[in-house]
Amino acid sequence: MTTIATKRVLVSRIFPGEGVERLRSAGFTVTAWDQDRPMTQDELIEQSKQHDALFCTLSDKIDKRFLTECQNLDIVSQFAVGYDNIDVAEATRLGIPIGYTPDAMSAATADIAFGLMIATSRKMFYMHKQILEGKWNYFRPHANLGMELTGKTLGIMGLGRIGMEMAKRCKGAYNMDIIYHNRTRNQRAERDFDAKYVEFAELLRQSDVISVHCALTPETRELFNSAAFSQMKPTAIFINTSRGMVHNEHDLIEALNSGTIWGAGLDVTNPEPMQPNNPLLQMENVTVLPHIGSATMEARGKMAQMAAENIIEFYRNNRVPHIVNPEVMK
Ligand code: GLV
Repeated sequence: MTTIATKRVLVSRIFPGEGVERLRSAGFTVTAWDQDRPMTQDELIEQSKQHDALFCTLSDKIDKRFLTECQNLDIVSQFAVGYDNIDVAEATRLGIPIGYTPDAMSAATADIAFGLMIATSRKMFYMHKQILEGKWNYFRPHANLGMELTGKTLGIMGLGRIGMEMAKRCKGAYNMDIIYHNRTRNQRAERDFDAKYVEFAELLRQSDVISVHCALTPETRELFNSAAFSQMKPTAIFINTSRGMVHNEHDLIEALNSGTIWGAGLDVTNPEPMQPNNPLLQMENVTVLPHIGSATMEARGKMAQMAAENIIEFYRNNRVPHIVNPEVMK
């Protein structure tokens, strides 16, 4: 049994909810970064060297250099469902468990994907800008027409927890036909939403809306590039709420400019943050948000609790309830 009172936890950001307080109540000595800027990599490493556990998030770089220098860490607990910022293979080799927070944000992120789909299909952000620019002058029946979604085909790339929530919304609101491509078949989606598994090329060819919900891995990095966009319908809308690096942004801009696809809704960009002079921000059929998929009080509160619980349970009961690399606990 570990004595929690001797354990020091570094918290790398200001997090909402009661997660950090839970760590303090459990008896840990907590150092919480309280500045409204991220730590530099050197600061993160220097601080982590003086702690036993790290509570971090998706923009903290937990790479090979970090892990080599901070082998003192007993556990890294990530406040996010995605963990592409972490060298999991290296952490596993060093025997460091990686906690994460799956499902806490599935509904919130699907809301953003669903919202981006509607906003893009009706050019909402662009039309809002028209008012701000004093260009709402008179009724123009032929101008700025969008498209309707009822009965269209939704193609889901990566049908896990968030993809399921998106499927539910699209089926319920617009009776969309659902097709998907995934590493494994999703029987529940096939039963509940009549979802059909298709090869990636078919997903590109048949979808009216493609929504990306897969993790960023070597296989999915820049999967949506000019070769992929060229197989999509010229009326298709591309939605990405997963990771910006799943698309090639240069190729996406080209595809939109040339009319290869019709529109795009992005909550994630490549790179992040997106710069204000990015041409995507000027396009009529494009909607961009600054990576706010999980930004609800409910989701972020739950994520903070789960990330804290992963640390508490590790020291109390030698288990990490939500773990990326369970093999290190054996
Ligand atoms: C958000 O992007 C997450 O991975 O939780």
